[in-house]
Amino acid sequence: MKVPKLEKNKEKIVELLTLTGRQGIDTLVDWLMTTDFFTAPASTRLDFHGCEAGGLAQHALNVYEAFEMKASQYDLGLREDERTIASLCHDFCKIGLYVPNRLKSGALSEAKPYVVQDDFPLGHGEKSVLIVSRHIELTNNEALLMRWHMEHYDAEWENYKERVERACPAIHAFHAADMEASKYLDVKLRR
Ligand SMILES: [Fe+2]
Ligand SMILES: [Fe+2]
Repeated sequence: MKVPKLEKNKEKIVELLTLTGRQGIDTLVDWLMTTDFFTAPASTRLDFHGCEAGGLAQHALNVYEAFEMKASQYDLGLREDERTIASLCHDFCKIGLYVPNRLKSGALSEAKPYVVQDDFPLGHGEKSVLIVSRHIELTNNEALLMRWHMEHYDAEWENYKERVERACPAIHAFHAADMEASKYLDVKLRR
């Protein structure tokens, strides 16, 4: 990915987050600037989604766009700022998670350019919720969307799905937006 694309995505994400007008959003954005969020990949392997520099931010924007399309189709019962926060922040758990997988030669491994180095293994959605909560007060909808965005890929989903569906009917549209982004919109360099 070329640098201008990284910068463009960064500007767009900062603009969208700021537009939510939520108390604390400025400190969240300031903190985000100190992280690798805008340059990190979204996965470790070339056959996974967004395995390139900037892949994580691109994935967040792709989920945002896919979810906005669903919000124009269905009554999801969510405010615009809730959709923005959930979409852009749902994978904050991947911030600082991937480190380059270098061969002895110093070059990046071709098949698996990154490896996971998780110093705070709290869980996937759970960690995103906690990280965002350090800066802004999440609504129940935002917390539920982020916590459960993996649906059946989360081992606890079967135990909670009926309660989650009742509390936040938009969960399926959000999970679908995440899947569409990772399967169709994010870059896959090799299948
Ligand atoms: Fe995720
Ligand atoms: Fe995701």
